[in-house]
Amino acid sequence: MRPRLPLRPLWSDDRPLMKRPRHGDIERFDEWSTTYDRTPGQFFFGRIHRPVVDAVCSGRVLPRRVVDLGCGTGRLLESLLPRLPGAELVGVDPAEGMIAVARTRFAAEPRVRLEVATAEHLPLADASVDAVTTTMSFHHWDHQEMALREVVRVLAPGGRLLLADVLGIGFFGRMMRSLKRHHGSGYRNAPELTGLLRDAGFSRWRRRQLWPGVPIYVVEARRAAKP
Ligand SMILES: C[S@@+](CC[C@H](N)C(=O)[O-])C[C@H]1O[C@@H](n2cnc3c(N)ncnc32)[C@H](O)[C@@H]1O
Repeated sequence: MRPRLPLRPLWSDDRPLMKRPRHGDIERFDEWSTTYDRTPGQFFFGRIHRPVVDAVCSGRVLPRRVVDLGCGTGRLLESLLPRLPGAELVGVDPAEGMIAVARTRFAAEPRVRLEVATAEHLPLADASVDAVTTTMSFHHWDHQEMALREVVRVLAPGGRLLLADVLGIGFFGRMMRSLKRHHGSGYRNAPELTGLLRDAGFSRWRRRQLWPGVPIYVVEARRAAKP
């Protein structure tokens, strides 16, 4: 167990945004984990989870193994469980506190496996997963290109990534992007995202804005069915 750092939750940092340290997101989430589920933002996050869960469960053949990257306390996995009877669900998050809360949540659920790990180094075998989800986590990843290559590695041919996050598109997206060095590492714009997905090895992708004017998108990307 890593020593706990004396860090505060993101919203309770009263220093001006530009003066906050850039790094330490994972430590902050670790600190935040015990109260995370009770924060008002969860209402909003639930509305972001819903279209991702619907998309995962929308195919002709339901996935048998799904991984949620940056799973936090496991709320998205909790929504997926009843929709995917028989599937194995894996939650991955580098914040030990988040995984500890998730372990309590799923203590009696043998279909859920939880791992303390980053998206950049997934403890999963090649081509072993049918779908990968990630919500409001991607912009925190320090090495997004490496992580997306990991996603392609663990996805079975034809498998899908469902990524919901803030993108640096449109007026508010560009505004968020200008703050990016002070909160996470990347609110990507459209050409950057296209480059990242293509270079990682995805064969096709599309994105959908969840609400007009709000720079939150669900990106669906597919690994080619044949090599
Ligand atoms: C805003 S929370 C979102 C949690 C959850 N997905 C949800 O929708 O409520 C972002 C999560 O991403 C995790 N995270 C940060 N860096 C990460 C990385 N490199 N790989 C995977 N997860 C990461 C954090 O620990 C945190 O739990």
